[in-house]
Amino acid sequence: MNLLVTGGAGFIGSHFIRSILAKYPDDQVTNLDKLTYAGNLANLRDVESDPRYAFIRGDICDPETVDRAAKDVDAIVNFAAETHVDRSIQDPGAFIQTDIGGTRVLLEAARRYSHRRYLQVSTDEVYGSTEGAPFVETDPLKPSSPYAASKAGGDLMTLAYGATYGVPVLITRASNNFGPNQYPEKLIPLFITNAIDDRPLPLYGDGRNVRDWIAVEDHCEGVDVVLRRGRVGEIYNVGGGNERTNLEITEAILKALRKPASLITPVADRPGHDRRYALNAEKLARLGFRPRRGFEEALSATIEWYRTHESWWRPIKSGEFRAYYEKQYKLR
Ligand code: NAD
Ligand code: TYD
Repeated sequence: MNLLVTGGAGFIGSHFIRSILAKYPDDQVTNLDKLTYAGNLANLRDVESDPRYAFIRGDICDPETVDRAAKDVDAIVNFAAETHVDRSIQDPGAFIQTDIGGTRVLLEAARRYSHRRYLQVSTDEVYGSTEGAPFVETDPLKPSSPYAASKAGGDLMTLAYGATYGVPVLITRASNNFGPNQYPEKLIPLFITNAIDDRPLPLYGDGRNVRDWIAVEDHCEGVDVVLRRGRVGEIYNVGGGNERTNLEITEAILKALRKPASLITPVADRPGHDRRYALNAEKLARLGFRPRRGFEEALSATIEWYRTHESWWRPIKSGEFRAYYEKQYKLR
């Protein structure tokens, strides 16, 4: 397949591109990425000279750029998004623009060029919080944060283009990802890199909020299964099956790095903080996919990656991240 992957310089998109090029010798990948604060071409150093890979710097909200990138491909896989809940609370505008508006521009291109597939990469956060049974794909959307609401808008626009114009759409909704190359604003890489530097770990609220974690490599395999074997018009949850409280994650990080519990710093809760995410992933299992990586092993490997790749995260933490984090920390 000849794929247009958007947001491929980010955390998950870069893993996806690497896995596609490794797995399918005949596939080609064009990566369209705006290189926002979260986009980092260092994530793709190992594939940038592959003749099957091309990079275009551009915005998915710009129809001309998208048109040029989408003309000759078979399918679009859309990872491009503003992704951090706390930033969406500080300033929702860019989230609506990219996660809904940009999605629409990509869908228009898929419609114009009669692509074989349009896959929208979405999140469990669109369902909101659950105290009961894990979410299934037919559950109503009840997003809590501006991020989740924007992703839900992108999902609905995707379904509308399927129903109205016959675009062959697919949606995946994944649990919280973790692994190498995740921007250190998110819980796991923030706490690993802060702990390495003996800096406080700001734990929101009572630390008992639960997330269902999936290794990024498993998520990418799940997306690929849906892209190639999913039924057009359908939504597939990509669940990790690893529910943990934030406190459990924090303690595991501190233990692995042999750092004291005194680094844990309870701070004011996030507004609208969802208590628990949980996904039922049986529908995807029926396509023959289940995550392969054990949570503890994958977390250890992630901690080890950050421990041995300071040259990746130190420039980030002393650059754009710093101003964001200082503002964020004052809010808490
Ligand atoms: P990320 O923030 O690491 O990367 C996002 C990428 O999109 C960056 O490279 C950025 O430059 C690019 N981008 C942003 N706006 C753009 C625009 N207007 N035009 C072109 N490129 C743009 O995000 P991530 O964690 O890799 O998430 C990727 C996708 O997966 C997102 O759609 C997200 O909603 C979804 N998702 C993430 C998680 C998670 O735990 N991280 C879980 C489920 C789903
Ligand atoms: P995050 O990585 O931002 O992912 P999401 O909000 O999309 O699930 O946060 C994961 C959990 O960790 C969430 O319950 C909020 C919590 N959290 C903290 O307690 N402290 C922090 O500094 C951050 C960034 C998150």
